[in-house]
Amino acid sequence: MAASVPSRLGSPLCRNSHLLRWVEKVSDLTQPDHIHWVDGSADENQRLLDAMVRSGSLTRLNPELWPGCYYARTDAGDVARLEDRTFICSLSRDAAGPTNHWAEPYAMRGRLRQLFAGCMRGRTLYVLPFSLGPLASPFSRIGVQLTDSPYVVVSMRIMARIGREVFAEIDKNTRRVVACLHSLGAPLAPGQADVAWPSNPEKYIVHFPESREIWSYGSGYGGNALLSKKCFGLRLASTMARDEGWMAEHMLILGVEDPQGEKTYVAAAFPSACGKTNFAMLIPPPGFAGWKVWTVGDDIAWMKPDPQGQLRGLNPETGFFGVAPGTSARTNPNAMAALSRNTIFTNVALTPDGGVWWEGMTPEPPAECLDWRGQTWTPALARATGARAAHPNARFTAPASQCPTMDPDWQSPAGVPISAIIFGGRRAATLPLVYQAFNWSSGVYAGATMGSETTAAAAGALGRVRRDPMAMLPFCGYHMGDYFRHWLKMQRALRLTPKIFHVNWFRQDAQGRYLWPGFSENMRVLQWIVDRVHGRTLAHETAIGWMPRYEEINWSGLDYSRERFNELQAVDRSAWRSEVISHEELFIDLHDHLPPEMIYERELLICRL
Ligand code: GTP
Ligand code: SPV
Ligand code: MN
Repeated sequence: MAASVPSRLGSPLCRNSHLLRWVEKVSDLTQPDHIHWVDGSADENQRLLDAMVRSGSLTRLNPELWPGCYYARTDAGDVARLEDRTFICSLSRDAAGPTNHWAEPYAMRGRLRQLFAGCMRGRTLYVLPFSLGPLASPFSRIGVQLTDSPYVVVSMRIMARIGREVFAEIDKNTRRVVACLHSLGAPLAPGQADVAWPSNPEKYIVHFPESREIWSYGSGYGGNALLSKKCFGLRLASTMARDEGWMAEHMLILGVEDPQGEKTYVAAAFPSACGKTNFAMLIPPPGFAGWKVWTVGDDIAWMKPDPQGQLRGLNPETGFFGVAPGTSARTNPNAMAALSRNTIFTNVALTPDGGVWWEGMTPEPPAECLDWRGQTWTPALARATGARAAHPNARFTAPASQCPTMDPDWQSPAGVPISAIIFGGRRAATLPLVYQAFNWSSGVYAGATMGSETTAAAAGALGRVRRDPMAMLPFCGYHMGDYFRHWLKMQRALRLTPKIFHVNWFRQDAQGRYLWPGFSENMRVLQWIVDRVHGRTLAHETAIGWMPRYEEINWSGLDYSRERFNELQAVDRSAWRSEVISHEELFIDLHDHLPPEMIYERELLICRL
């Protein structure tokens, strides 16, 4: 339908009548001053960045030190995902399940319409089309985000494929488009001065799985506002995947190349701020000549069996929204290279020379800097008050293409073959460094009962162990019991079942020190995993799964004692009995949807213990 375009729609880059009608409706509701159709060009990007620098919402970093880099400081109340304000509004409460906040969709729509009424006054509405996955891929899915945040536009340009080519695809009108509506909830009255980080104390992140819509209000930050990421890439995608026979997981994907040149891809699910980005960019330690790790993705994996029954995985994103604190040339040189230019930093500290700093970036802190609140920070002040220069959830938004270890196939439309799946949490006790599940269903049980200590990636108490099944507790868009069933069902579509492993880099000794050095030393665990996949190494059977003996780990270049390794790998039966009881906390909630396999696996585990 070649509709005539009302002039207040600006200059649409797309003629799709559904899209035009939706933009018109949203613009009637939200009353923006202007509508801008995002073409995704470098010019447009630079204009947006320059305008944000002029308005004070971005700081341009010293181009000599940080070319193409910008710095944002958020409102102090808008620093992380808000799980309490995240809703799944399926038609029935039962479909969302007890691990999600559910709200009745009609009532929620009514509330949202009130909130969105006039919410973009004084601002520009950006029409931002994006593709998750390369447009040519059968994995890929398209969304359009309507947003009044230019920070979101420039960030999504790094994180996803955006602009003209996506509009062209929408114009073909052959694909379903996910409607993503986002507002900061901070309209401006005529003449009213803007603040550096507009947001609203009242926040809503709302998903309508049946109609495939997202409405996000009040936050400009991360997973609350970059709707391609957790809202679409995981919550909506997980429901689409269930319906269509694939998987949308909170996983990194990496490829391990051995000295013979054989490459083995693995996907790994660790909860937020538990090491995915670091593991995805691992550099093997000096003792591993000839081994190389290639990065495919660091946060989201979309996986699907191919016609031959091989699971294939794709990273739907094009950038990293990574945790800054702890990232350094020592722990993650690849991330440091990726973020060295064309990167947006959020809530890190600003140094006097126009650079950025965060805890753990360098052994020596700067003598002075401005912290993430804009206040003077010095090492002495930090010692006296414990003040942090960077917020613990400070992030970098960096193009994946700048990471030196990107796999040559990272954008392959067919994805890469996945041979192993790794689950892992942040656990001070009980969970060993590594074990292999006996088979697919015991592996699904290990994933389903994963526990992890909470981190700063979400607002709330830190360091509390909670069940975080497959690292998807905050991201599964439907009933968690049905999600386990979907995992179990996937095996039937697979001819080559990936082997499943569980790791824990964070076990501590009696003094509270990490028992395992982590980071590049995780290669030792990865080699064992890859060797297991190819049937090249032994393991011994324990109550929880197959485990390596000391001699089955490659210790080349590391002095790590057998005694310490045994402490790291210990399976303490009484601790494990408590662990199984805590599995029950989640299972009781899920009971009427829990697949019987989970009950049998638990019983078998109890018998072995
Ligand atoms: P999200 O982006 O929130 O999903 O996080 P992520 O899972 O990608 O976590 P990331 O790799 O950014 O790591 C989070 C924190 O854990 C950082 O402060 C890292 O320095 C730390 N970390 C990562 N790997 C290891 C490890 O092997 N050992 C230890 N001790 N810490 C690690
Ligand atoms: C996470 O919390 O798992 C993240 C950051 O990757 S956010 O995009 O904010 O969800
Ligand atoms: Mn994440």
